[in-house]
Amino acid sequence: MDHQAVEHDVLVIGAGGAGLRAAIEAAAAGASVGLVCKSLLGKAHTVMAEGGVAAALANVDDRDDWRVHFADTMRGGQYVNNWRMAELHAREAPARVRELEAWGALFDRTPDGRILQRNFGGHRYPRLAHVGDRTGLEMIRTLQDHGVHQGMDVHMECTILTLLTDGGRVAGAFGYDRERGRFRLFRARAVVLATGGIGRAYRITSNSWEYTGDGHALAYDAGAELQDMEFVQFHPTGMVWPPSVRGILVTEGVRGEGGVLRNSEGRRFMFDDIPENYRAQTAASEEEGWRYTQGDRDARRPPELLTRDHVARCILREVREGRGSPHGGVYLDIAWIRERLPGAAEHIRRKLPSMYHQFKELAGIDITTTPMEVGPTTHYIMGGIRVDGDSQMSTLPGLFAAGECAAGLHGANRLGGNSLSDLLVFGKRAGEHAAAWAGAHPPAPIGPDQVEAAARRALEPFDRAGSGDAESPYRLQQELQGMMQDEVGIVRTEGQMRRALEGLAALRRRAARVAVEGHREYNPGWHAALDLANLFTVSEAVARSALEREESRGGHFRDDRPEKTAEGATFNVVVRRGADGGMEVIRRPVAPMPQELQEVIDANA
Ligand code: FUM
Repeated sequence: MDHQAVEHDVLVIGAGGAGLRAAIEAAAAGASVGLVCKSLLGKAHTVMAEGGVAAALANVDDRDDWRVHFADTMRGGQYVNNWRMAELHAREAPARVRELEAWGALFDRTPDGRILQRNFGGHRYPRLAHVGDRTGLEMIRTLQDHGVHQGMDVHMECTILTLLTDGGRVAGAFGYDRERGRFRLFRARAVVLATGGIGRAYRITSNSWEYTGDGHALAYDAGAELQDMEFVQFHPTGMVWPPSVRGILVTEGVRGEGGVLRNSEGRRFMFDDIPENYRAQTAASEEEGWRYTQGDRDARRPPELLTRDHVARCILREVREGRGSPHGGVYLDIAWIRERLPGAAEHIRRKLPSMYHQFKELAGIDITTTPMEVGPTTHYIMGGIRVDGDSQMSTLPGLFAAGECAAGLHGANRLGGNSLSDLLVFGKRAGEHAAAWAGAHPPAPIGPDQVEAAARRALEPFDRAGSGDAESPYRLQQELQGMMQDEVGIVRTEGQMRRALEGLAALRRRAARVAVEGHREYNPGWHAALDLANLFTVSEAVARSALEREESRGGHFRDDRPEKTAEGATFNVVVRRGADGGMEVIRRPVAPMPQELQEVIDANA
């Protein structure tokens, strides 16, 4: 099969923040680097982390430090996090943010000229360094500007179909360019996966078309382990109206700036249900919550800034019990601060410019005067490729992972803003360790049979064109998304998950008949057909892992087992490909935490 072949020391697959940061580090270490993006450079889900990057800079509240950030991250993740990653993340995030500033990122400033930080859910102190509500965008811009001067090769609009291995280690990757449909072979001594999430497995999502779980599935197919796949994050606030924009993110920064959630009765329902482990930190009245927002160090956080898993469930409860908004959400009201703050409308436009324009242009609503209608949207997956906390190497030698497609840091639930610091801290680590691995290992040979088989598989949908029982890739993707939304969503039961697994098996059978008309150039139907296998893999991993966790924890809530169990904190659910080709589910014990870190948690309870 014809293909173009290129060779790099380190191949980075995915060009969002984690991929760019890994590529920068690997190039700085002297490795030749190839950076593959599924779409255009600069278009990444990183930009959807709008409200800020979490780092204990202590610029706004000097009581903050890495220990508090570490304890907040562990509490938010409900103690199934990889504690080593949580420690490294909390310790290193401030340096990574300052480094980004040195590379040209422009942050909002405090009156005395330091990087300004805002409140976000689950963070004890104002911790999110931000640029209005465009922080992820500014980060991508900065990393891209810095990265392109490091001498890396960028392969845009290229989808990787399979990882190539030799003797139990990674040897490269095989894919195709989306414009012309030509095959590409990448030889590499080390590969870093930084492909982001799986949002497109769900109907309502903040993720764009690229996020089909590619890195997760590539790693799984190559023999690596996935972990924590039951923990999917439904961001509490996505747009719900009009239908064409349903799922688009409404940043948590709105709540960080004082926005409140109300039901159709006008009541701030978040006061109704405050989890025991956050009671001591949560305001007892609207007045106290407002004082916190305004920087009163003695006040406690408003309940809208509880963790995302909890806020999303509370919104779902209001909607299900008939107290929702007309289009199936609740109200997010920032306009109310006009009662308290002189110049509030101008303040809102300055702090939340994208939200202002988004609602004005897409929904015809002025958020400085009118509450927004919002509801949960699939935003992130805490689960991903199981990696070593220090090096980010997966269980497959030479294969590294960073950012959303790697598991561990966030445990059962991620705190907002920790995604951006995650990708900086662990993107850098992955790049550094991948370069070191590449320096220490010669290139591995690639057998032509692996390449031939991958190319043949990719072309199969064309062979079926015109057959009577052909299936449409779009229809299958749509049915999968509906099923995952309905059966393995914010709240699940055993019956639903079993139905999802049966449904998946049926969809897979039908996928064997997917057909595509035309040829390889500019053929979106073909792209959709090729994305299906990854979507099935990650959906099955989510459903099977969710079935295995017989309790509720973080982003995984079971209506039939609503309590957390003591046992649940002792293991992570891992899936891997079994000897028979099926998905094997195993429990791996959570590594015991060193005493000094346990003391940090106790001291910051
Ligand atoms: O709400 C937000 O701005 C999203 C941030 C994040 O996912 O970290």
